[in-house]
Amino acid sequence: MQDQVESLRKSEPKVISVLSGKGGVGKSILAVNLALAFQKRNFKILLFDADVGFGSVEILLGTVAPRTLKDFFKSGLKIEDIVYKSPYDVDVISSGIDIEDLLLFNLGDRKKFFDSFSRILRSYDYVIVDFPPGYNENLDKFYLNSDYLIIVTTDEPTSIINTYTLIKVLSVKGVNPEEIFLVLNMVRNMKEGRKVVERLKNVVERFVGVPIRHFFIVREDPVVQKSVERQKPFLLWAEKSQPSLVMLGLREKILKESVEREKEGFLDKIRHLLGIGG
Ligand SMILES: Nc1ncnc2c1ncn2[C@@H]1O[C@H](COP(=O)(O)OP(=O)(O)O)[C@@H](O)[C@H]1O
Ligand SMILES: [Mg+2]
Repeated sequence: MQDQVESLRKSEPKVISVLSGKGGVGKSILAVNLALAFQKRNFKILLFDADVGFGSVEILLGTVAPRTLKDFFKSGLKIEDIVYKSPYDVDVISSGIDIEDLLLFNLGDRKKFFDSFSRILRSYDYVIVDFPPGYNENLDKFYLNSDYLIIVTTDEPTSIINTYTLIKVLSVKGVNPEEIFLVLNMVRNMKEGRKVVERLKNVVERFVGVPIRHFFIVREDPVVQKSVERQKPFLLWAEKSQPSLVMLGLREKILKESVEREKEGFLDKIRHLLGIGG
C-alpha cells in the first residue's frame, strides 16, 4: 500500500467535494477534519472554503486567512498570494465571497481564476472543497469535475429529504452518483442510524437507480462541540474518538479507491497500447 500511495502522489490531484442538502449538518467540520486526516499521512492538501456561511473552515481551524478570493478579484493579486499556509500544514483558500458571486465578475477575470486555480492544484495531492449547501446550477462544473462527492446529512427527516433531492438532482445532471460517499452525522442511536442509512440507500437505489456503495455513520459526540469551542479540530486532540476514527476510515476508503482507479487507468492504457479495447 505504501508504494501505491507513493505512486499516487505523483499523479493528478484528486478533488473531494463536500456537499449537503441543508446547512448545519456538519459539512465544514468534516471538511476540516478530513483534510487533517490526509495531512497526517503526509499528503499535500488544499482546503477550499467555498461556503462563507456560519462556521467557516477558518473559524474551525482557529485561524484567519489574511487574503481571500475576493482580494484576488478586487486587487489583482496572484493566486499564490491568497493561499494561506495554516499552522496545521494544510493550505487554505478562503472564498470571502459567496461563491455564486464569482459569476458577477467578468469572463476574463473568471478565466484567469480558473487558469491560476488549475495551475496551483498540481502541487496538491487532494483538494477538499467545502461547498454551500444544496444544489446550485452555477456550480455545475465544480460538481462534475469532482473525483469524490461526500454528502453529509443528519437523520432528521428534513435533512434526509434534502439529501435525497440533492442526490437525485446530481444524478439527473450527469454527476456519477456511484462516487458518492454518504455520511450520516450526529447520530444518537447507532442502531437507528443504520436503519436510516438502509432506508435512504433503498430509496435512492429504487428511485434514482444507483447504488450507494460507501456510507459512514458519525455519532453525536461532545468532542465535536468542544472542538468548535476550542477552535481546534478534534482529530488533533481526540484521535481515538468515534468521529476521528470515522474520518480516518473515510480517508482510507478514498485512498483505496484512488489506488484502484489508478490501476484501472493503467490497465486501460495497456489495453489501448495492445489494441484490445475494453
Ligand atoms: N458529530 C457531531 N456531534 C456533535 N455535534 C456536531 C457533530 N457534527 C456537527 N455538530 C454540530 O453542528 C454544528 C454545525 O456544524 P458545521 O460543520 O458548521 O455545519 P455545516 O458546515 O454543515 O453548516 C457544529 O458547530 C457542531 O456544534
Ligand atoms: Mg459550513
